[in-house]
Amino acid sequence: MRALVWHGKEDIRCDTVTDPEIQDPRDAIIKVTSCAICGSDLHLFHNFIPAMLPGDIMGHETMGEVVEVGSGVNGRLRKGERVVIPFTIICGECEQCRRGNFSVCERTNRNKHIADKVFGHAGAGLFGYTHLTGGYPGGQAEYLRVPFADTTHIKVPDSLTDEQVLFLSDILPTGWQAAVHCDIEPTDTVAIWGCGPVGQMAIRSAVLLGARQVVAIDRLPERLAMAEAGGALTINFEHESVVERLNELTGGKGPQKCIDAIGMESHVTPTIPDTIYDRAKQMMMLENDRPHVLREMIYVCRGGGIISIPGVYSGFDDKIPMGMLMNKGITVRTGQTHVNRWTDELLRHIEDGRIDPSFVITHTMPLEEGPEMYKVFRDKQDSCIKVVLKP
Ligand SMILES: NC(=O)c1ccc[n+]([C@@H]2O[C@H](COP(=O)([O-])OP(=O)(O)OC[C@H]3O[C@@H](n4cnc5c(N)ncnc54)[C@H](O)[C@@H]3O)[C@@H](O)[C@H]2O)c1
Ligand SMILES: [Zn+2]
Ligand SMILES: [Zn+2]
Repeated sequence: MRALVWHGKEDIRCDTVTDPEIQDPRDAIIKVTSCAICGSDLHLFHNFIPAMLPGDIMGHETMGEVVEVGSGVNGRLRKGERVVIPFTIICGECEQCRRGNFSVCERTNRNKHIADKVFGHAGAGLFGYTHLTGGYPGGQAEYLRVPFADTTHIKVPDSLTDEQVLFLSDILPTGWQAAVHCDIEPTDTVAIWGCGPVGQMAIRSAVLLGARQVVAIDRLPERLAMAEAGGALTINFEHESVVERLNELTGGKGPQKCIDAIGMESHVTPTIPDTIYDRAKQMMMLENDRPHVLREMIYVCRGGGIISIPGVYSGFDDKIPMGMLMNKGITVRTGQTHVNRWTDELLRHIEDGRIDPSFVITHTMPLEEGPEMYKVFRDKQDSCIKVVLKP
C-alpha cells in the first residue's frame, strides 16, 4: 500500500510499504477514506519529539471502512462499518479507561517499560507517533491496523460526510476538552492563544459552552478571520501587546480562563526577548520547548483563574514563573485528549447541526501529495489551515 513515511527531519515521503495484517485477535483493518495532517505531526516533522525511527508511518487523524476484523473483536465492530479512529489507542478495561482517562490507558503502550522510565508512568499507545507512545504505524496510508479495535473506534452514520466527522479523531475533542477544562461560566472571558485547527475548535467550543467573551490570538490574517467568523474578538500579536489588549478587554483584571493551543513551537518574535532565548536554548538542546506563551498566560491570567494546555510540550522548560502561578492561585489543566470521553456528545452536536468541524478545511489533496502538503501546512502557504488527504 501507499503511506506517508518518516525518514528524518523534514523528510516525509510517500512510499510503498507492506499492507497491514491482523496480528492480534482484537485487531481490525480499515481501508482509509480520509486522513488529515495535525499540528502534532509538525513536531515530528521538525524532529522535536524523541524516539521516531526512519520507516515509521505517520498519521493519527484517520477514518474509513472496516475491511477485516480479528476473532476477538466479538461483534463490537463488523466488516463494512464506517468508523473514525481516535488517535489514542484504548483497551477499555484498565483502571484509567474505566475512569475515562483514555489518553493514559495503562495497557495499549507496547513500549510501556521504556516510557515508564522516561515519564514516571507511560501514557496510552498513539497512532503514528513516537516509539515512546508505542511506535504504532499511523493512518496517513491506504490501510490502517487498529489494535484494540473493539474499543478503539467511533462509529459514524452514513448521513454525515467524512469531512463532518473526521476531526472526531483528534482536533474537535481536543478543542472541546481544552474548553471543558476551563469550567466556563457565563461571566468568563476565555483567551485562546493560537488559531490553528486546535485553536479554532477551542474557540467554537468556548462559544458553545457559553463564555461571555472569547478572545483569540495569532498573527496570520486568514486564521484570525476564521476565529472572528467563529465568534471571537481577535488580537494580532505582531501588531499589538497581548497583555495590554487582554487587560483592556477585561476591565484591567485579565481573562479568567486561558487556553494554550500552540505548545512547544511558539513563534519566535525578534522584539520579544524570551522567544529568542527559547529558540537559542532549544537549538543548543538545553531546553526542549519554547514556552513563551505559558509565561504570558501566567502573567495575564486573572488570580484564581484556569490555564488549560492542549498544546503539546515534549520535555523540560525554563523560566516558568512558579511564584506568579502559585501566588495567583492559578489552576493548570492539560493532557493528551481523552478522545472517546467526548465523542458521543460531540457526534450529537454534529448531527444536530450545532458544530460542523469541516469549516476548518482549506486543502483536500490525494495522499501522494502528502509530503508537499506537510510543507504547505507548516509554512502556512496558500492560507493553509487544515489539510485532508484522500488515499
Ligand atoms: N492535547 C492533545 O491531545 C492535542 C491534540 C492535537 C493537537 N495538539 C497540539 O495542539 C497544538 C496546536 O495544533 P494545531 O494543529 O492547531 O497547530 P498549528 O501549528 O496549525 O497552529 C499553531 C498556531 O499558533 C500560532 N502561534 C504561534 N506562536 C504564537 C504566539 N506566540 N501567540 C499566538 N499564536 C501563536 C501559529 O501562528 C499557528 O496558527 C500543537 O502543539 C499540537 O501538537 C494537542
Ligand atoms: Zn493531533
Ligand atoms: Zn485502558
